[in-house]
Amino acid sequence: MRVAVVGATGAVGSTMLQVMREQALPVSEVVPFASERSAGRELHYGDEPITVRALSEESIRGFDLALFSAGGSTSGEWAPRFAEAGAVVVDNSSRWRMEDAVPLVVAEVNPEALDEHRGIVANPNCSTMQMVVALKPILDRAGIERLVISTYQAVSGTGVRAVEELEMQSHMVIHHQAVAPPEVYPHQIAFNVLPQAGDFEDGDDHTNEERKLMAETRKILGRDDIGVSATCARVPVINGHSESVNVQTRDPLSVEECRALLGEAPGLTVLDDPARGVYPQPTEATGRDDVLVGRIRRDPSHERCLNLWIVGDNLRKGAATNAVQLAELLRVRGLLRAPSAA
Ligand code: A2P
Repeated sequence: MRVAVVGATGAVGSTMLQVMREQALPVSEVVPFASERSAGRELHYGDEPITVRALSEESIRGFDLALFSAGGSTSGEWAPRFAEAGAVVVDNSSRWRMEDAVPLVVAEVNPEALDEHRGIVANPNCSTMQMVVALKPILDRAGIERLVISTYQAVSGTGVRAVEELEMQSHMVIHHQAVAPPEVYPHQIAFNVLPQAGDFEDGDDHTNEERKLMAETRKILGRDDIGVSATCARVPVINGHSESVNVQTRDPLSVEECRALLGEAPGLTVLDDPARGVYPQPTEATGRDDVLVGRIRRDPSHERCLNLWIVGDNLRKGAATNAVQLAELLRVRGLLRAPSAA
């Protein structure tokens, strides 16, 4: 496979290169793309130096696969062009996720949706991704009527500049210096919690991150009737999103059954011995490809509700790892073909 990684200098793009290498994806050539500012910069694929290119009609020709994580507007413009030039695009931005003709796929949850692709496949939002890995086995066993979600999201999900902003502000606070005005977030993120992940658009009282979590969950699980209520907060954690999820099932499901079910599920590891301090944490999830789940307990206010605490590496399973898993599924299933033939 000849593979393009678009946004290769970014937080997710650089993790894509790393995960592709770790998973030994059978590639003949990997070409990193970024903005014109970065053209000519040298990156590495394993030990091999690779040179960043800018996007142009000429430079995008001849690829089998293109992994995108360069923001919605770059995907809007360039993903269809890559597809027209013969590549299958796995796009990590939100640009194409809710289009009917674009499958929105989590490898462990709805891989069959890949069969319907027409050149672009969407990779879900990071908070949605890690949550549905844990919800799918519950849905299959007991049905799901309603979800109430609160997220505690790390800054790496916003990108490289957000990580730099948290590090810089933390340094200033610790050294008793005046904190410079924030550039990435609306307020200081160091030693703070912002009840805003994403943006408030068109007077909406939910952020676009909360809207994505609600809509994408229903699309991936293929269930429009699941009620979803979400609050997404940004916390001063470098990497690893945490989520408190209250699940109302259709049928009764005991805590023990739920723990056993999740313990057998693909892509998921149960860490649940809270009295001994065993529960998922972002520091533990970072660098891992599996999603961690714990604090599995009955909601005392409702007989068919359970509470879960779900943590994942938002750059890995929340983005790069799933994209690479989809690439491998597309290859193995013979689905890396031009849309005209699809
Ligand atoms: P660059 O480093 O040249 O700005 P992050 O999410 O970590 O901020 O990374 C965003 C990624 O998207 C970077 O690799 C960035 O490249 C890339 N990018 C941003 N704008 C464009 C663009 N117009 N065309 C191609 N790549 C872009």
